[in-house]
Amino acid sequence: MTMRVGIVGCGNVALNFHVPAYQAAPEQFTITALADPTPERLELGRASSGLAPHQVHADALELLARDDVDVVDVCTPQHLHRDLVVAAAAAGKHILCEKPLAATPADAAAMVEAADAAGVVLGVVHNYLFFPEIVAARTLIDSGTIGEVRNVVVDMLGVVDSPGAAGYRPQWRHDPAAAGGGVLMDMLHGVYLAEHLVVEPVERVSAYVDAATSGDAVEGLALCRLETADRAALVNIGWGHGPGGIRITGSKGRLVLRYRDEGTMPWAPFESMTLTTETGTETVDVPAGQELAPLISAALHSTVVDFADAVNSGRAPAAPGRDALRTLEATVAAYTSAALGTTIGLPLPVDGPTHRRGVIGLADLDVPESSPVRRRSLFGLTPEGV
Ligand SMILES: NC(=O)c1ccc[n+]([C@@H]2O[C@H](COP(=O)([O-])OP(=O)(O)OC[C@H]3O[C@@H](n4cnc5c(N)ncnc54)[C@H](O)[C@@H]3O)[C@@H](O)[C@H]2O)c1
Repeated sequence: MTMRVGIVGCGNVALNFHVPAYQAAPEQFTITALADPTPERLELGRASSGLAPHQVHADALELLARDDVDVVDVCTPQHLHRDLVVAAAAAGKHILCEKPLAATPADAAAMVEAADAAGVVLGVVHNYLFFPEIVAARTLIDSGTIGEVRNVVVDMLGVVDSPGAAGYRPQWRHDPAAAGGGVLMDMLHGVYLAEHLVVEPVERVSAYVDAATSGDAVEGLALCRLETADRAALVNIGWGHGPGGIRITGSKGRLVLRYRDEGTMPWAPFESMTLTTETGTETVDVPAGQELAPLISAALHSTVVDFADAVNSGRAPAAPGRDALRTLEATVAAYTSAALGTTIGLPLPVDGPTHRRGVIGLADLDVPESSPVRRRSLFGLTPEGV
């Protein structure tokens, strides 16, 4: 029997990618309900999924109460994830949740605990894990071809600042209370990819952040160093026109992943991967990458199929809630480091302001005047005396 899915939030990612992904997996899923308080988005969703009016709801709680929903797919902005996921878990539904898992670590931890307590699966859409060149790179790493990974560099300095759906709040990604941060939070894909390729959990984080535009409340540039027990990764993410690409250095060789015109994935398609060892350099046989829309469609399809298999087999999904919580903590730790000018250890203390309130909690810390976070008035902080 197929799993019956209710999608909460009919914004861009839901209608452009989630609905088609389920429709392309008819053996695993049937969409039986949608919810969105924005009437035009709900109607667009209803039309694209072919549902009847009684299957769509302005209030997500009505969707969660339906007997014909086995899986709830949460596609709202991240500050709204917690209440929906906790309620879905209490209703006994399995949950697939968009990234970032939440805007604050406290919210994310509550979601993980709620799913564990209810015995339901909580998977997170870390869809870049399924990009073919990432799968190929990780397979080569696991084969030992480049020896032990020493460090990873993930550059995403050409991120496009895409607005949200017009009928809702197109600029919510620039509101620190809603988004929980700026370009780094939105593109924390780079954080989980770095951890995936360095093959050890992140333990310490340091970072520099800056605004892309004067007066913006969130950062448009984040240069981060993620340390594991024995390895390290640099993750550089920014809106604008900087370069992209991934470099993985091992004790016996390196892998270099290039994207069109040295651009940033997924806007620039994957171009080539080279493997260099003491015997020379060769191009790894990975098909040329797809443009953004088909690439994300394929990765979302892989994400939902993986999720179905995880629910059916009892194994963990590609990105379980607990892993996504660590990715979020690393991201919040980067903001904390940038504000304080220190290296931040993980996990964040649960009674600390940034665990409880995320980037908004920086206001409760002693952020020095010299910090770019304070000088740029990011995340609600102001220069001293202002
Ligand atoms: N994995 C990816 O590649 C990817 C890509 C884009 C967005 N996302 C993530 O998906 C989420 C949504 O992003 P988006 O670009 O679709 O945003 P969006 O602004 O386009 O859409 C948000 C939608 O949520 C709806 N909404 C608001 N409150 C709601 C509620 N209480 N119940 C139900 N619906 C509600 C709004 O009406 C709107 O339709 C974010 O967490 C974002 O980070 C992930």
